[in-house]
Amino acid sequence: MKNCYDKLEPNIYRKIARKIQHVAPILDVGCGDGRLVNFLALKLVKKIFGVDASDVGFEKARREAELKGVSHMVEYVKTDASHLDMFSDGFFGGVVSVYALHEFEDSLVVLKEIERVLKTGGTVVIVDFVKGGYAERLWGERYYAPAEIGAMFKDAGFKQAKASFLYNDIILVSALKI
Ligand SMILES: C[S@@+](CC[C@H](N)C(=O)[O-])C[C@H]1O[C@@H](n2cnc3c(N)ncnc32)[C@H](O)[C@@H]1O
Repeated sequence: MKNCYDKLEPNIYRKIARKIQHVAPILDVGCGDGRLVNFLALKLVKKIFGVDASDVGFEKARREAELKGVSHMVEYVKTDASHLDMFSDGFFGGVVSVYALHEFEDSLVVLKEIERVLKTGGTVVIVDFVKGGYAERLWGERYYAPAEIGAMFKDAGFKQAKASFLYNDIILVSALKI
């Protein structure tokens, strides 16, 4: 079903791409059907991994990757984001995640895993809905307040997180691992 947030997606994806254009490889946590993974591979021409606890979107993701000619650059892995055991410490130059933070059973544990798999100087970019907006009324889900996300970044070890609003109730939080 289409909703008012769909039309924001291209702009959000472009903003994410700008923030991670100089780092590699990239991991998308909670990648769903791989729209962002395939977009980033096409735009940045580098290795992009997508992980998700469910593989229901992977068939579509791989089909789209074929169509876009980026199959050799993308890899989809079914795993719980709180245990990214297949990736060694400091493996990734960038980690991104869109509309997934609120879904993790323990978001702080996932942010700590993201911090672990990021190399020093690497970038994390998280986009999610925040508490009290239209998305909450539309889907009846529970989202974090911006201050809660900021506190989680800090607890996960990211010292200087920067936040900006992409829309009334969509926040982008980015940080460097220093
Ligand atoms: C709202 S969807 C967003 C999907 C995609 N990022 C997008 O923007 O369309 C949230 C995704 O997080 C995934 N997810 C939830 N808990 C997870 C976990 N513990 N580990 C990995 N993925 C998880 C879900 O399976 C789902 O695909």
